[in-house]
Amino acid sequence: MNDFIQWCQTSALSAAIRSAKWPYPSIEILHIAGLVLVFGSIFILNLRIFGRVLKQTSVREVAMGLAPLTLVGLCAQCVSGPLLFVATAMRFWENPSFRLKLVLLVIALVHHYGWHRPLVIGGAIGGEASAGKLRGSAAVSMLLWAGVILAGLSIELLAG
Ligand code: HEM
Repeated sequence: MNDFIQWCQTSALSAAIRSAKWPYPSIEILHIAGLVLVFGSIFILNLRIFGRVLKQTSVREVAMGLAPLTLVGLCAQCVSGPLLFVATAMRFWENPSFRLKLVLLVIALVHHYGWHRPLVIGGAIGGEASAGKLRGSAAVSMLLWAGVILAGLSIELLAG
């Protein structure tokens, strides 16, 4: 793994990102925009599940309407995240917050697409999921994505 991290750090792409002042902050702006789309769309869906917003629209319709925003956000993160990482790969790889964020991110994505969304859209196969089951899943979703963001924000706090 260290060879791969070393390769990232010494790559032409890494050197290009670090070659001027504007590339890194520009990529970070994309990363924050992606974060707003991902967390914002999932947060609104969960607020609907808790009956706080969009009460006139069904949970299923809200989920269907917000899904493209979540996907666009994830695409932005899949591009900007690795670019941020490659810029100073060694520094980030040694950062416990960065590693924690990646682990929480994988769990949050598996929960969202493997359980939460199927539950919301199809009641996890078979009609409407119970309100209690939906709210339980929404609570887990909120905790996981809040964990991803807090770990992300603490990367710089623990950066060497
Ligand atoms: C939905 C997915 C993601 C979310 C919600 C997310 C969220 C965040 C947040 C809140 C920050 C702190 C704000 C900042 O400094 O820009 C951050 C920083 C960072 N993220 Fe992500 N991220 C995601 C995916 C990724 C991926 C896939 C990678 C790399 C493989 C990545 C790499 C980084 C790096 C390297 C930083 C540190 C930037 C710095 O401090 O200069 N992120 N992320």
